[in-house]
Amino acid sequence: MHIRPEIAVLPAYKQGRQAAADAFKLSSNENPFPPLPGVVEAVQAQTAFNRYPDATALAVRAVLANRFGLTVDEVHVAPGSVAVLHELAKATSGPGDEIVYAWRSFEAYPGVVTVAGATSVQVPNRADGGHDLDAMAAAVTDRTRMVIVCTPNNPTGPIVTGAEFEAFMAAVPSTVLVVLDEAYAEFVTDVTAVRGAALLERYPNLVVLRTFSKAYGLAGLRVGYALGPAYVLDAVRACAIPLSVTAQGQAAALASLERESELLERVAELAARRDRVVRALRAQGWAVPDAQGNFVWLPTGEGTAVAAEAFERAGIIVRAFAPEGIRISIGEHEAVETLLETARALVGDLQAAE
Ligand SMILES: Cc1ncc(COP(=O)(O)O)c(C=O)c1O
Repeated sequence: MHIRPEIAVLPAYKQGRQAAADAFKLSSNENPFPPLPGVVEAVQAQTAFNRYPDATALAVRAVLANRFGLTVDEVHVAPGSVAVLHELAKATSGPGDEIVYAWRSFEAYPGVVTVAGATSVQVPNRADGGHDLDAMAAAVTDRTRMVIVCTPNNPTGPIVTGAEFEAFMAAVPSTVLVVLDEAYAEFVTDVTAVRGAALLERYPNLVVLRTFSKAYGLAGLRVGYALGPAYVLDAVRACAIPLSVTAQGQAAALASLERESELLERVAELAARRDRVVRALRAQGWAVPDAQGNFVWLPTGEGTAVAAEAFERAGIIVRAFAPEGIRISIGEHEAVETLLETARALVGDLQAAE
C-alpha cells in the first residue's frame, strides 16, 4: 500500500497529557471553568442525533457576521480553528508551495503544511519569544502561498502589536494569504495588540482565525471560525469535510455568544491570574516572556524534561517542549500555589547547576 513518504514519517498530533484524577491538567490551554450558564441546557436540547446538522452552521455565522460587521459569506465555521488551518492550507498550497510561520509556535502548524503537500518555512522567534516579523516578511518568496501569524504566540505568549502587523502587511505581497491566528484573543489585555477583525476591510489577503475552545470553554465541542474575504472562504468551504460541526457544537456556540458578560468576567479572572503568576515567576528569577494568552512559558532549556517531571510529581501536568521550555496553562485557582512552589524549587536547581 502506498503511503506518501512525508506522511509516513509525520507524527500524529500530540495532545497535552491527560491528568490523574488528583492532578491539574495544565497542558492543553483549556479553560478551567465549566461551560457558561445555559450552555449545557442548549446542548441537551439537541437530541435529534438521527439527523445531520446544518452543514453551513448558518445561525452561528449570522450572529458572528453581525458582531463583526461582515456578511455571512465572510464567516466560516469549522470543527475547531485547527480544521480551518487545514482547509486554508489545502485551498492555497500544494507540492512546491511554501507556508511561512514562526517557530516555535502552535505545534499543529508543521503537520497542517505537510498534509497539504506543501513545504514549511519556519522563522525563529525573537529572543523575547515574539514573532520576528521582519524575518518572516523576508522569508516570503514567489513560492509562498500563506503566512501564519500567531498572536498571542502559543506557546511563548507575546502578542504582535498593531503597528508591527501593519508594517508586516505592507512588506508582504498582497497575493500571499496572511492568516492571523487569534485563538487566545479574548485573553489579551495589552492595548497595543493587533485586532484582526478590524483590519479585514483594509487587507484583502487577510483571514482571521478565532475559536470557541479557549475563552468560551467549548474545547470538547469543536467549534472554531474564520473571518475573511468570501471568495477565500468559499475555497476553504470546498476543502472542508462536510457536516463536521455538530448541532450540539452550534447550539453551544450560539448560547455562549448570548452570555458575553459572564464570559468577560471569567476571562478577566483568568487574565488576572495569569498576570499574578507571571509577576511571581519573574520575582523568582525566571525570564518569563510577556504572557497574553491563558498560559505562561518557562524557559527551562536543557532542564526541560527534569522540570516537567518535577511539576508532574507535584500534581501538575505541563506541556514540555524539550530542549526549549515548558508551557503551563492558567487553570484552577487551587493550582497556583503548587505551580509557584515547584517553579521556585526548580529555578534554584537550574541556577545551582550552572
Ligand atoms: C494558536 C492556536 N491556534 C489554533 C488552535 C486550535 O484550537 P481549536 O481547533 O480547538 O479551535 C490552538 C489550540 O491549542 C492554538 O493554540
